[in-house]
Amino acid sequence: MSSTGFLGCVLFSLLLAGHAADIEEMAYKYAPYFRFDLVEGEGGFCFPHNASDYYHVRKAGDASRQCNEDYATVSNGDIPTYWHAMTCGYHLHIAYWTFYGYNHDCDCCSGERDAWWEFVVVKVRDWDLQPHMHEVMFGQKKGWYTRVPSHYEVHDTTHPVAYVGKASHGTYHDDGGTGTCCYFEDFRNPGDLDMSMKTWLNLVELKQAGGEGWMEDADADVWNGLLAPTFRSDWDLCSLVGCTGSFLQLCGTSGCHKSDIGDDPF
Ligand SMILES: *[C@@H]1O[C@H](CO)[C@@H](O)[C@H](O)[C@H]1NC(C)=O
Repeated sequence: MSSTGFLGCVLFSLLLAGHAADIEEMAYKYAPYFRFDLVEGEGGFCFPHNASDYYHVRKAGDASRQCNEDYATVSNGDIPTYWHAMTCGYHLHIAYWTFYGYNHDCDCCSGERDAWWEFVVVKVRDWDLQPHMHEVMFGQKKGWYTRVPSHYEVHDTTHPVAYVGKASHGTYHDDGGTGTCCYFEDFRNPGDLDMSMKTWLNLVELKQAGGEGWMEDADADVWNGLLAPTFRSDWDLCSLVGCTGSFLQLCGTSGCHKSDIGDDPF
């Protein structure tokens, strides 16, 4: 290799390393602020969970319920939120995944399950030259929808606020709910307790190779039939669409009803 070629390589590597650092910095800067329902943390209504802990418990053959009811672990940053990012043209898409050990019934008698993943995706427009957070995608149950600025709340200028459903743990741009299993109806009333999670206190990068062991394991039995985020079709953050489900508000999946960009590309 010629010396100029070598120098070019070095400079290019430095550039890439610099970009990786910028991207990680942005993952912290735009990480979501979660707000929980006032009954989360008791009676089988669980806070986020360390996915690695859960994985090891299941791999060891322990099938007992894993429900994190300890708010302190959430408020002091003991529980990780998992992220990964992709640059899509001028924009940076950052996905944040939260794991729950158990979802309680969403009504008197249905909906409960072990192991559940939910996501929020942030779009940072013009990330290299003039970065600004724009669309935010909220995932819930088997669907999702996307909101544009001023149609979601922001904490401390840069952190999108997501309200977490008390039983099914979907993320929503608003509070409320009527407490049924229908799509937008999981309760999310922070009340006076106002329990929250600053996800940027503990972020762990999702990696398809070289990360925590569970991230490389395609075993769906561990997650009660689900794949880890690293194996899902939506790993490619550049081909996401704005919503899924009905545009009419139904009891079933109707994410598009609240999507500002419809099902256009995210
Ligand atoms: C999650 O739990 C594992 C043990 O299974 C521990 O090694 C790891 O530090 C925890 N992760 C975080 C980010 O706290």
